[in-house]
Amino acid sequence: MADVVVVGSYVQDHIWRLDRFPQPGETRRAAAFHTGPGGKGFNQAVACLRQGVASAFIGALGDDALGAVAQRFAADEQLPCRWQIHAERSTATSGIFVDRDGAPMNVVQLDANEALTPDFVHAQEDLFAGAKLLLLQLENDIAATRAALQAATRHGLLRLMNPAPVRAEFDADLLALCDLITPNETEFAQLLAQIAGVHVEAGSLASCDDAQLHALARRLGALTVVLTLGARGCFVSHADGERRGDTAVCYRLAPERVEAIDATGAGDAFSGALAAAIVRGQGRPFRAAVQHANRVAALSTERAGTAPVMPRYEDVERRFGAPG
Ligand code: RIB
Ligand code: NA
Repeated sequence: MADVVVVGSYVQDHIWRLDRFPQPGETRRAAAFHTGPGGKGFNQAVACLRQGVASAFIGALGDDALGAVAQRFAADEQLPCRWQIHAERSTATSGIFVDRDGAPMNVVQLDANEALTPDFVHAQEDLFAGAKLLLLQLENDIAATRAALQAATRHGLLRLMNPAPVRAEFDADLLALCDLITPNETEFAQLLAQIAGVHVEAGSLASCDDAQLHALARRLGALTVVLTLGARGCFVSHADGERRGDTAVCYRLAPERVEAIDATGAGDAFSGALAAAIVRGQGRPFRAAVQHANRVAALSTERAGTAPVMPRYEDVERRFGAPG
């Protein structure tokens, strides 16, 4: 039985590394190319599994060659998956450019992921019944996402939402079904505008102090917000006052020092590892789980690619000592 259920997207990533992004109308040579399994949901499921926590994935594929790649990879990884196969859809694809600073530019065609149905999610009730935590993103049809949150609520699971990418249909009702969210700065600013009608520039969040960020997080409602700040680490706000073993209502965790070459999927490494650390460390301070997620995300940026290069538990131990 899986402790963590991930309902999410599968995408076949196509990743080019180049010195700088092309301008419109410009042809540039890439230094390297590779393709492999990705998608925010699948990346997070692999990241969670590789932290040693029993995980399962629910997602959608086309009835095509890329769908077969997905199934083979999941089987090799020993990640149990429930796939909804759509004959009339294609397995999703992305085109990702990564520049010399490791910053990704990402275009995704979500295709089959948009056709994941609430009925299919409900039919996997047995997975929810045995699990402790549901991990979600926003790359599927929102009705399927809602179905997953409802099933998790019925079965008393902790509900962790990585609100990426923010979409118009993600509203306060859905947010109220989440215990914990992990937005980046852009997503945090979008959620504030969309849910609380508060307008802040994503770029200005870097100069906010803890009290200001905490006050903003509270505007989203009663939940825990873990705001990821890229190379500046992350900020935790227990807006609901429920401290999960910590004494502070908000705090920052410094970034880990690594040689970043590709930040694609770093947010996925973070959310997947956070889910794993929460389940693994029940009763331990939430801060330790966030620190572990921070480490896994940092390590993931040292490798080019997404799902296939998610760090393992042993990698974290080797680099940083025993995880907190
Ligand atoms: O977060 C990175 C992921 O976003 C990539 O794997 C790509 O597939 C997109 O969904
Ligand atoms: Na990476």
